[in-house]
Amino acid sequence: MSKLYVTTPIYYVNDLPHIGHIYTTVVSDLVARYHRLLGDDVYFLTGTDEHGQKIQTAAEENGETPQALADRVVSRYHVLWDELGMSNDDFVRTTEARHRAGVEEMIRRIDANGDFYVDKHEGWYCAGCETFYTEKELEEGNTCPVHETAAEWKSEENVFFRLSSYQQPLLDLYAERPEFVRPETRLNEVRSFVESGLRDLSVSRADLDWGIPFPGHEGQTTYVWLDALTNYLSALGFGQDDDDLYQQYWDTREPDTRQLQILGKDILRFHAVYWPAFLMSAGLPLPDTIWSHGWWLMDDRKVSKSSGNVARPDHLMDRVGADPVRFFLMRDMVFGQDATYSDEAVIERYNSDLANDLGNTVSRVVTLSRKAFDGQTPPGDAAADQASPLADSARRHVSDYRRHMDEMAFSRALEALYKLLSETSQYLVENEPWKRMKEEGGAEAVAPVLWSCLEAVRVVTVGLLPFMPEVAPRVLAAVGTARPPASLDAMQWGGTPHDALLAEPEPIFPRIDLKAWIAEVEAERAADPAPTPDSKTDDSTTDDKDDTVDDTDVKDIAAEDKPAGDKPAADKPAEKKAAEDKAPEQDPQINIDQFFATQLKVGTVKVAERIPKSNKLLRLEVDLGEPELRQLVAGISKVYEPEDLVDTQVIVVANLKPAKLMGVKSQGMVLAASEDGQPVLVRPERFVPPGTQVR
Ligand code: MSP
Repeated sequence: MSKLYVTTPIYYVNDLPHIGHIYTTVVSDLVARYHRLLGDDVYFLTGTDEHGQKIQTAAEENGETPQALADRVVSRYHVLWDELGMSNDDFVRTTEARHRAGVEEMIRRIDANGDFYVDKHEGWYCAGCETFYTEKELEEGNTCPVHETAAEWKSEENVFFRLSSYQQPLLDLYAERPEFVRPETRLNEVRSFVESGLRDLSVSRADLDWGIPFPGHEGQTTYVWLDALTNYLSALGFGQDDDDLYQQYWDTREPDTRQLQILGKDILRFHAVYWPAFLMSAGLPLPDTIWSHGWWLMDDRKVSKSSGNVARPDHLMDRVGADPVRFFLMRDMVFGQDATYSDEAVIERYNSDLANDLGNTVSRVVTLSRKAFDGQTPPGDAAADQASPLADSARRHVSDYRRHMDEMAFSRALEALYKLLSETSQYLVENEPWKRMKEEGGAEAVAPVLWSCLEAVRVVTVGLLPFMPEVAPRVLAAVGTARPPASLDAMQWGGTPHDALLAEPEPIFPRIDLKAWIAEVEAERAADPAPTPDSKTDDSTTDDKDDTVDDTDVKDIAAEDKPAGDKPAADKPAEKKAAEDKAPEQDPQINIDQFFATQLKVGTVKVAERIPKSNKLLRLEVDLGEPELRQLVAGISKVYEPEDLVDTQVIVVANLKPAKLMGVKSQGMVLAASEDGQPVLVRPERFVPPGTQVR
């Protein structure tokens, strides 16, 4: 039996999971499930990356501890992975003691090999990537090529790793084991990066508290990538008393054991260069393959919270379940290339491939069989089964499916299954069993036809099991296979029982009217506008305009985690149902009383200053015609200089519940238009007395 260790990246907890994280984890789950069905011994790991500057900053801006932030986001990951049917064997968190033990052991080994030294470090740093860039690598205005945000100049004394010594060993590795980085285009990118020269890598931070203290170097915290990459070992027990899993799946002497690490191309360099270099230095075995996939894009940009371009399929999953989303992700991205995400595309794929091609074929064939054979599958025998004209084509398509799955060409694997499905429908149409069964002796004549169609659908659906683990068993039950098989051997032709009970078909994939769905979502969004600080607890709030002025990840996390009592009506099942029922006609309007519930006033800015450590927040003191100035916090400092604001007028939401941002109390909110995510302050057309109402 082969052994396979499959890993996803561990995801940062400053962000709630979005379609990009879902994709990598679904791919990994698919691989894990496929190999289990092949009879392999699989260990599948995912988890979260909880240390580092950006988690610390996100937590600070959210007014909570990094650990509290991590705990909250991790629980969201658990719920979502559960909904999506992830079959991971473990979920590692870098704040766990077992992980720390692994990192300390890693550092001890690298140190013993003499690969650390202390030196001064200067350079351009992107907190989003948690990495230094050379000027050449940055884009105009010293912006990070991944996050499109400004990198900052950093200078401090750090521990360095002698990465430069590993240039040749890495090049040798790529030459000797080209399968180490897949697909090949990515291997070429990595190779030319390494060929262009490697600089030693700073592996500690002096100005960071949130992380694992770097052993032997007081005041230094372990660089988050050295910390994070070690998760793949620490989760298996590396550096701990019980390292049995580590021995089995990583440091194994059994030749038939593979490690497959799946990740997006954004973090390929860390996995294909730093990671093997750390492992070589520590004298540890390297993984077999680093498989790097492309990006889901929206509006031609990477889906990413850091660049303010997020897609979350929550509405869709509420409506169609998780499996159609899994199916779409695997079908519409050629593994390795980029693809474009939209909810509409998911629904279109659902309607065509699931509701129409699969769902309709199932209900047609089952209905006909039940009718012709008294609620049962057709009678027959093994010889007739094998003589079916669909048998050969099934064998061909199944073998293509297997080949594509082995090559990680998942969309092509699905295409192979769908070829069989389409031949099945054609066969059904050509044979017209609905006509023939009405003729004398018709049932007997149509038995092999209907059995073949049921059987072909069964074969297709067994192949769909790793893609749709919740729905595929239901489809199998519908075509007469009550218990889902535990092995892909079940794709062999001949498994559908004769004379077995067939239940009345239930709609497994009800069609969705795309237009009505869009109207429904828009109505829900209108009923559930951007959350206000009211919807959160006082000490963990943030200016809800943050969303419009900055792309930091704070708001979403807080917003999505509103206490149940604060949930907008459309989030509650019964009310939501009602909203859905009348959604298409619903007009997202408010009445005048609702509008007047918001007190808008003109204010004159008297004091404006930056808030230390925040790159977007300003503290303002504003005259609202009240006895005292109001203190407000506004996320506008990327666009407005504090000194330019003094003695200008702004519009303030004056009756907003106070909130704390970066420890500073905000008693209201300044209004701004959002142009491409940048704030443009809304101001009265001429100077008016402070406190004047806006209506
Ligand atoms: N914490 C690091 C990884 C450390 S692994 C030792 C990290 N975390 S992340 O939360 O930013 O996740 C990045 C990964 O999420 C990508 O490599 C990819 O697997 C997935 N994706 C995030 N956005 C994506 C897209 N838009 N498209 C496809 N996958 C992407 O980096």
